Amino acid sequence: MESNFSFTVNGQQKTVTTDAQRSLLDVLREDLQLTGTKYGCGEGQCRACTVLMNGKSGPACLTTISEADKQNIVTIEGLASGDKLHPVQEAFLAEGAFQCGYCTAGMILGVVGLLNEKPKATDAEILSRMQKHLCRCCSYPTILKAIRRVAQGSKK
Ligand code: FES
Ligand code: FES
Repeated sequence: MESNFSFTVNGQQKTVTTDAQRSLLDVLREDLQLTGTKYGCGEGQCRACTVLMNGKSGPACLTTISEADKQNIVTIEGLASGDKLHPVQEAFLAEGAFQCGYCTAGMILGVVGLLNEKPKATDAEILSRMQKHLCRCCSYPTILKAIRRVAQGSKK
């Protein structure tokens, strides 16, 4: 049975009528055309689908639309302020922290979620949190440099 779900996405109020068990990932991509959020495994194993819900990062494939009801969602499309990229986006660009880019939106939102909790995250905290994010291109060294650039001010 379908129900109405209302939530904020990237600062805009949205209402969808759908099955309560559909994933937030499906609704974002198929109903709202926010395709920057990627489908990787659909099982919580790759984190390509990471979004922010009330400032915390998590996998949209494991979040039902009923769990997203009345919550505040941010996807990669809503991270920049107008023409000004988010500092984590700028750091990924500065370090060239991607190859194909498929994991990048989820990586960036995972880092933003981490820094919302720990603005000066240590290497141990970065590795502990980000180990769930898979990059099939193995861009891990430059991704770590990008995260350090924001969390630790490191440009090495
Ligand atoms: S698609 Fe959500 S964790 Fe892989
Ligand atoms: S840059 Fe290709 S999967 Fe990470």
